[in-house]
Amino acid sequence: MQIITSVVSLMFILDISISAVRIGSFNLHQYGSKKAANVTLTDTVAKIINDFDIAVIQEITDVNIKAPYVLFDALNRVSKTKPYTMTLSERVGRSSSKEQFIFFNRESTSGVKLINYYLYEDAEDYFERPPFIGTFEVTSKGSSGVKYFTIMDVHLRPDSAYQELIDMRRVIRDFIIKYPRYFTDASTSLSQALAQNVIDATDSKKPSLKSNHPILIIGDFNADCSYISAKRQETLRSINFVDFTWMINNEVKTNTRRTCTYDRIFINGDNFVKAIVSRSNTTVDFQSRFGMTLDQALEISDHFPVKFDIKW
Ligand SMILES: *[C@@H]1O[C@H](CO)[C@@H](O)[C@H](O)[C@H]1NC(C)=O
Ligand SMILES: *[C@@H]1O[C@H](CO)[C@@H](O)[C@H](O)[C@H]1NC(C)=O
Repeated sequence: MQIITSVVSLMFILDISISAVRIGSFNLHQYGSKKAANVTLTDTVAKIINDFDIAVIQEITDVNIKAPYVLFDALNRVSKTKPYTMTLSERVGRSSSKEQFIFFNRESTSGVKLINYYLYEDAEDYFERPPFIGTFEVTSKGSSGVKYFTIMDVHLRPDSAYQELIDMRRVIRDFIIKYPRYFTDASTSLSQALAQNVIDATDSKKPSLKSNHPILIIGDFNADCSYISAKRQETLRSINFVDFTWMINNEVKTNTRRTCTYDRIFINGDNFVKAIVSRSNTTVDFQSRFGMTLDQALEISDHFPVKFDIKW
């Protein structure tokens, strides 16, 4: 009886720990050898990331690829009993200044496993930094019905942000064609997804992507202010990504100076969007949390993280 009770209470505890899962995205602004050498700074970054069960990271810049491991170690010192896994992209960028993307996943609290990842193969050179794509399987399935989902981690080039965002259609199309197995839950799912004509969509033929595989585009889109005008943002909303819900709207500012909404979370997938905890989608103001001045906050990053909570 004793044993049964503790098994039940353990299950209860586990159930609680995965009841709301936080997914956050953070542009670390040139997190390279200099920042990695600063223990205080790295510990603060680790504490910020520790709030997320899944973290989608941009702008790791160390040429020697040591900085991501320094951060990974710091993160798992903060989260010692519940370690993260790190999935690191190759270095990407057209010029010598290259960056890496990261997915951190704390499986014991996220209830998901990363089952597949790749960098978009950008043969036609559409992107300054080809997106990093990870597919996750929900291992602690709940009532949401979400079984798999894919995150496309982006850091769009500021002066071509609009065009690169339009070109995300190619990445989506490529994903659908490459991984039919994620679309086979319902027999019609893959053909429906393919029939969306994602690339050549027009105003009268809007892509609708009503398939059963949620796709999230997350990261630093540079999608505001001088880079993508308010008018063009409307175009993106109504025509090109008709089924994408923008979880981060202009009501919040995502740069640390609080002037623009550069970082975004776009989600395609009705079940996924429905499972998001309402009003959990916002920025993380680490400046207030750590009682920093603006200058101190800017030393950490010129971006605030963006995040949302979801219940599987
Ligand atoms: C390390 O980072 C902290 C916190 O951002 C900062 O106050 C300090 O000046 C930095 N130290 C060095 C040596 O750059
Ligand atoms: C959060 O999501 C809701 C529903 O999509 C939206 O109305 C709201 O503007 C979002 N909040 C932010 C800060 O973008």
